[in-house]
Amino acid sequence: MCGIVGYLGSEKASDIILSGLTKLEYRGYDSCGIFFHDTDNDRFITYKDKGRVHHLVDDFDYQYNNHLAIGHTRWATHGKPNQANSHPHFSLSQRFGIVHNGVIDNYLELTTKYLADVPFSSETDTEVIVNLIDYFSKTLAVEEAIRKTLSLLEGSYALLIIDIVNPDILYAAKNKSPLLVGVGSKGIIIASDVMALVGYADHYLPLEDKSVVTVSKTENQYHFELKDIIGKPLPTTMLEMNIVMEDIGKAGYSHYMLKEICEQPSVIRKIMAMYLENGSSLPDKIIQHFQEANRIYIVAAGTSMHAGFVGKYLLENIAQIPVEVFIASEFAYNPPLVEKNPYFVFISQSGETADLRSSLVWVKSHHYQSLTITNVPTSTLAREADDFLEIYAGPEIAVASTKAYVAQVAILLLIAYQLASRKPFDIHVELSRVAVAMDAIIDRRDYIQHLVRDKLVKHNCFYIGRGLDYFTCLEAALKLKEISYIQTEGFAAGELKHGTITLIEEGTPVIAVISQKTMNHATRGNIREVQTRGAEVIVISMSDIHDVTDQIVLMDVHEYLAPLITVIPTQLIAFYTALILERDIDKPRNLAKSVTVE
Ligand code: M6R
Repeated sequence: MCGIVGYLGSEKASDIILSGLTKLEYRGYDSCGIFFHDTDNDRFITYKDKGRVHHLVDDFDYQYNNHLAIGHTRWATHGKPNQANSHPHFSLSQRFGIVHNGVIDNYLELTTKYLADVPFSSETDTEVIVNLIDYFSKTLAVEEAIRKTLSLLEGSYALLIIDIVNPDILYAAKNKSPLLVGVGSKGIIIASDVMALVGYADHYLPLEDKSVVTVSKTENQYHFELKDIIGKPLPTTMLEMNIVMEDIGKAGYSHYMLKEICEQPSVIRKIMAMYLENGSSLPDKIIQHFQEANRIYIVAAGTSMHAGFVGKYLLENIAQIPVEVFIASEFAYNPPLVEKNPYFVFISQSGETADLRSSLVWVKSHHYQSLTITNVPTSTLAREADDFLEIYAGPEIAVASTKAYVAQVAILLLIAYQLASRKPFDIHVELSRVAVAMDAIIDRRDYIQHLVRDKLVKHNCFYIGRGLDYFTCLEAALKLKEISYIQTEGFAAGELKHGTITLIEEGTPVIAVISQKTMNHATRGNIREVQTRGAEVIVISMSDIHDVTDQIVLMDVHEYLAPLITVIPTQLIAFYTALILERDIDKPRNLAKSVTVE
């Protein structure tokens, strides 16, 4: 969702902001803007409008020397995407300029109480923040005026604030929405996502809620002060930057999504290296929490929730531990009756999903133990849960999650395996086979591209499967609809005939996933049912149970690990379908990579 980036330093600030906004594009947005200090003429300049960052980059006048700037990508919440609602926003006097991620819940009350006379020029809650700062700055020093304003705000915010009276200072503040301070040799960069810091910061600090940063310059040195909301200094223990430019490039692929699909065998090998080799294993504390729990509660959204379904199956079948899976946005408002000794597992690629965060707040308020499984170790959910496991997928830039999904499933498999009193297979052998089987199908991606062109580009589509394959179907359907905009449903194969089969007509694509021996016969029966009604069927099966007419046959792996393989052709199907339809594959419409509002 929205992204913010700000810079004060000796480099040309606008270059760093435009590069940062480009790196934040993957998060999803509909408008963008930049506000900077033109050093030579000592004035401030704004560019902002609805549309893509590349328009901003193309229209930008690069002649200005500037060392202080803030920028924003906006995903509309209050007010439609247009120039007036794009950030930055300004106070009525024009003294303060601001960019904001998040949602202020009480902005209407604050307007009535303090700003009744202010004519607003946008429909955003952000304009209220910047006018409150201006209002309080009439009687308080700027830093105090900011803290006073923050003390009144209810909701989420990551803010960057410029006071035009002092172009050698940049202010920032955060609550619930992520914000990181990066320190490089040539200045300080603050952004909502670590990606924007790459290339400019050697060290960085993820900010805690209700903290306020003041970046300033003394004798050509740039430094920052960190305080809490009442002005008490906070420690600044910096982390080393461990992402380099190559990690966030396309490495010669046409799209991030294709690159990330092709990286999946390496992700499996990386997870093995981090959690299985040289005596390494999952932390004892986490295993103990699973063992002591009467029931596990998995909370997640979208693709991560589908990984949670597979995790439930694996934990229940391999480790005999009862598990429930919850849609995070439902859990937050309708929590279940919880068993004695629960253990809550939050699965999130980004570690920032607002629905999960609300659920975690509820879990913590009840003093229950929690674990976050995520790709981003510095994320809010990783920091706020009691325990944390990294999935080691590497930066995932495409909005459609692929490698993070298989990494999440692999981590859940490792947990189930370590908890099993009787090991049903050799995990080293089987995960190594998975990596090879993934390589094999990725190498045949041209074949899948042809298959898609011949059979699949229609106005709706179904995935059917049973047991573990059903969960793969849910994920496969989400992937196809998410990037191709084709209406797609994932169905338990036996359920179709209880109503939905009425939608099958001549040429409707039905893709069946068959990896589980015991369900082979029954799913093939369901295939015949839809074929009889004219469906165009594609079967994805494993080698040991395949039929000669099956179109996509995968190398055998143990049945419990099959979801790691069967999902790969479905990702490729989604990718090539979207490619044929000329969709914006890495940044599908209306979607955000990191969903930071509820
Ligand atoms: O970062 P998270 O895993 O918490 O995100 C949850 C969903 O928004 C996410 O998985 C979404 O469904 C993906 N874009 C699907 O590809």
